[in-house]
Amino acid sequence: MNQPRIALITGGTGGIGTAICKALADQGRKVIAGYYPPDKDQAETWRHKHREAGYDFDIVACDVSDYESSKQMMHDVENTIGVVDILVNCAGITRDKTLKRMTPDQWDAVMRTNLDSAFNVTRHVVESMSERGFGRIVNISSVNGQKGQFGQANYSAAKAGLHGFTKAVAQELAAKGVTVNSVSPGYVKTDMTDAIPEEVRDAIIQQVPMGRMASPDEIAYVVSFLTDDRNTYMTGANLPVNGGMYMT
Ligand code: CAA
Repeated sequence: MNQPRIALITGGTGGIGTAICKALADQGRKVIAGYYPPDKDQAETWRHKHREAGYDFDIVACDVSDYESSKQMMHDVENTIGVVDILVNCAGITRDKTLKRMTPDQWDAVMRTNLDSAFNVTRHVVESMSERGFGRIVNISSVNGQKGQFGQANYSAAKAGLHGFTKAVAQELAAKGVTVNSVSPGYVKTDMTDAIPEEVRDAIIQQVPMGRMASPDEIAYVVSFLTDDRNTYMTGANLPVNGGMYMT
C-alpha cells in the first residue's frame, strides 16, 4: 500500500486550520499541524482532544515569522515523519487599527506573520517537491486582501501580497507537478472574528449576501479540493469563499 501523503498546515491548531487538518486527514493524508511555540500547552491539549476523536495528528512548533525557525521546523518534520507533499500556509494574525493609529510594531507583526511566513516556510519545500514531481501548496489569503478593509491596512496588504506570491511561485513550479493556489475566505466563525466588536461584526455580516459567516469546514472543503491528487491542472488560481461578499 502507498504511504499516505504528508500534509503540513501552519496555524493548524487555529479555527480554520483545525478544520483543514480534519478535512485532509479525512482524505487519507498524514497531517501535521504547526503551532506558535509559546502555545505549546494548548497545542498538546488540542492534539490529545483530536486523537481521542480518532484524528492521529502530529504537531510541530514553529514561529513562521522567522526564517530559521521555519527551516528548523521543516528539518524536524522531514527527520521524524517524512518529506512534505502538501503545504497549507494558514498561520495568520490581526492587529486591526486605522492607519492614523497603527504603530510600526502592528504593521511589522502582521506583515511578518501573514506574508513573510509564506516565503519562510514555502522556501523549504520547493526543492523537494520539484525533485519528487508532486506538490500542493495552498496559501490562505482573505477577502480583505482582495477588497481592502477599514482598519486593516496591514492585514489587507499582507493578504494581497499572498496573491502575488502565489502566482509567481505557481509559474516557477508549474512544470514540476507542483500546484500553488490561494483561497480567500470571507468572514469565518473563529476566535479571530469573535474578537471584532459586536456592532462592527453585525454590520459586516449585513454586507454578506448569504447573510451569515462561513463555518471553518466550508473553507477546509475548498482546500481539500485544491490539494486532491486529481486536481492537477489548476495553478496560480485564487478561490474566493466569501458568501458572495466580493464577487470577482
Ligand atoms: N467604514 C467607515 N467608518 C468606519 C468603519 C467602516 N467600515 N468601521 C468603523 N468606522 C468608524 C467608526 O464608526 C468610528 O467612527 P467615529 O470616530 O465617528 O465614532 C471610527 O471609524 C473608528 O475610528 P478609530 O480611528 O477610532 O478606530 P480604531 O483605530 O480604534 O480602529 C477598528 C477601529 C479596530 C478598525 C474597528 O472598527 C474594527 O475592529 N473593525 C473591524 C475590522 C475588521 O473587519 N477586521 C476583520 C478581522 S477578521 C479577519 O481579518 C479575517 C478575515 O480574513 C476576514
